[in-house]
Amino acid sequence: MLILGIETSCDETAAAVVADGRRILSSVVATQFELHAAYGGVVPELAARRHLENILPVIQAALDQAGVTLKELDGLAVTQGPGLIGALVIGMAVAKTLAFLHRLPLAGVHHLQAHILAAFLTGKPPSFPLVALVVSGGHTNLYRVNGFLEMKLLGRSRDDAAGEAFDKVARLLRLGYPGGPRIEKLAAVGRAATFPLPRPRILEEPLTFSFSGLKTAVALTLKRHPEILTDPQARADLAAGFQEAVVEALVSRAWLALTKNSQTGSDRLLVCGGVAANGRLRQVLKERAAASGAGLFLPPLHLCGDNAAMVAALGYHLLAAGVRLDLEADVFSRG
Ligand code: KG4
Ligand code: ZN
Repeated sequence: MLILGIETSCDETAAAVVADGRRILSSVVATQFELHAAYGGVVPELAARRHLENILPVIQAALDQAGVTLKELDGLAVTQGPGLIGALVIGMAVAKTLAFLHRLPLAGVHHLQAHILAAFLTGKPPSFPLVALVVSGGHTNLYRVNGFLEMKLLGRSRDDAAGEAFDKVARLLRLGYPGGPRIEKLAAVGRAATFPLPRPRILEEPLTFSFSGLKTAVALTLKRHPEILTDPQARADLAAGFQEAVVEALVSRAWLALTKNSQTGSDRLLVCGGVAANGRLRQVLKERAAASGAGLFLPPLHLCGDNAAMVAALGYHLLAAGVRLDLEADVFSRG
């Protein structure tokens, strides 16, 4: 079953053709980094306009690279939310039009659940049940996953998402946008113990994340010691301290969920989303998994960030289960 996936939830215009929810025939991603870099973050209005320019060439490129025509497709999948409304609407309008014109079934995909599916587009997919940690620019969510379409939220961030914290702290450190990869690069030459940063915990909600206090702590450190910004080693040390605090928050809660979960039979952890590309996070996860014997599943780097292959993969499972999007259905921003 050949599915064309379409993704326009944030600042990546993407299209992909995936066979049977498993095999990627093509995956095209047009990023808008350079467009938003000057503003230090994604400008929704500009993102939507760029999606409008890019979407048809990106879809054509995905079809060409897969060597298929629209007529040969069995279905379409599009990100319905969460994301930026003006951006989502572009992908949705194109998907509905193609579905209508070519009489193809259309699946409306939840962006975060699609991130989880990225780990199934590898040579070594996990089996169910498992715990999934989705760490992206907009969300930090822990799920118990019992099947492709069976996901239960176990915990989330009560304030900033992990990726958002990377982006905000990168701005404080004057590193520009996107923040995650720049902090990672700088942190590689930093000493994490130089600036002790808080490790907030919510006692009554052990699986809830909170990153805004950490961002404030970095801001206060810089306010007290503005010289850090002009001292390359100190700046790298602060970046490393911040990164380590985020990694610890993510890994400790993921393992807590895993331990709780193991009472019900799972020792598999899947970590995905843009922040899952972070090398330090991947390293600590691997060490912890090796020590505890848990199975760890990480998508390859190119499938951690936003892409349409993961959208097509989830779309396949939805359509195979007979779940179709009503052509009257709208996009949603939160969820
Ligand atoms: O999943 P994603 O591509 O888009 C959303 O759905 O939000 O995630 C983007 C987020 C951004 O906040 C970005 O700074 C972060 O992922 N990110 C990273 C790294 N690469 C991307 N954070 C830390 N380290 C990285 N290497
Ligand atoms: Zn995403």
